Amino acid sequence: MSQPLIDPFHRPISYLRVSVTDRCDFRCVYCMSENMSFLPKKELLTLEELDRMCSTFVKLGVEKLRITGGEPLVRRDIMTFFQRMSRHLDSGALKELTLTTNGSQLAKYAQALFDAGVRRVNVSLDTLDETKFADITRWGRLKQVKEGIDAAQKAGLRVKINAVALKGFNEDELLTITEWCAERDMDLTWIEVMPMGDIGNEDRLDQYWKLDDLRDRLRETYTVTDLPDSTGGPARYVRLEETGQRIGFITPLTHNFCESCNRVRLTCTGELFMCLGQEDNADLRGALRNHPDTEEPLEEAIRSAILLKPKGHDFDYSRQIVDGKMSRHMSHTGG
Ligand code: GTP
Ligand code: 5AD
Ligand code: SF4
Repeated sequence: MSQPLIDPFHRPISYLRVSVTDRCDFRCVYCMSENMSFLPKKELLTLEELDRMCSTFVKLGVEKLRITGGEPLVRRDIMTFFQRMSRHLDSGALKELTLTTNGSQLAKYAQALFDAGVRRVNVSLDTLDETKFADITRWGRLKQVKEGIDAAQKAGLRVKINAVALKGFNEDELLTITEWCAERDMDLTWIEVMPMGDIGNEDRLDQYWKLDDLRDRLRETYTVTDLPDSTGGPARYVRLEETGQRIGFITPLTHNFCESCNRVRLTCTGELFMCLGQEDNADLRGALRNHPDTEEPLEEAIRSAILLKPKGHDFDYSRQIVDGKMSRHMSHTGG
């Protein structure tokens, strides 16, 4: 058994997020500018290379693998990759294989995902109003995403909805979104908007809706009980006693969760980002491509990279300016 991955702050690294493409079929206004330029296809790791990368991380102790993008389900042949990864579930090395998706392709792939051993999906959905949905995603259609969610539930996948809390945009839908998720037995997680990449004319401070405020508003309608639950991600959970449902809060701005960080992020070109909120990254592609017959150099490169994991992000809006902004977009590392 090889040594587990431990970072300089004594945090065990057991969760790998893999962005399999930077492309997306939506253009959410808080995530992308309208005219994004994407990586040329030849820059991408092949699915076989992604398999080698992920399998090496699993060998080094990663137990949770989340596939992200861009939109992961727009990558050609991505089901083959899920099918291959399922061998690590069968062996018991991997405890969870999952994905974060915008839901647009779920109707097509839900059953195949279930068959590959996926049991849970996180679907990004910020509004239940068709016009607002079309506005915020620029290219998306709500109906298609709802059909995707239906298909996922029908296939037996547990669905968690991720909603970015946006001032003046979905504040008025707090209760409707909550009730809609309760009716469908779906968990719901709210996320504070982070300063990732240039997004055209939108201003992060104008968008920012504190989750402390959102929680207070929930308390006006529901009895809110803190829960000790953890899914291994950054969300902290509460239960609404009246509906029994679980609500998560991802609060990089108001309550930092970096001290319990257990994750690193691999991009589709083989860069390893040790923190969502820092620019430091390590190139793993060289170690992979230059040594096709042995995993040792790759294992060494991963171990060295983990030793560079920073303490946390520096996102901060408290002085009414945006501090800690990243030049890259969320779609580069998949959130
Ligand atoms: P669960 O397994 O359901 O807990 O998922 P998760 O919260 O780990 O994954 P998901 O893709 O649903 O993450 C939701 C969002 O949380 C991401 O898209 C990011 O925006 C944010 N997030 C996840 N990890 C981090 C992190 O390490 N730092 C920061 N600042 N945000 C994160
Ligand atoms: N801040 C917070 N969340 C974001 N997402 C995309 N961009 C941002 C941002 N700037 C969310 C998406 C999706 C997940 C991958 O990240 O809505 O749920
Ligand atoms: Fe695509 Fe997700 Fe970014 Fe929206 S948030 S543009 S769905 S990657």
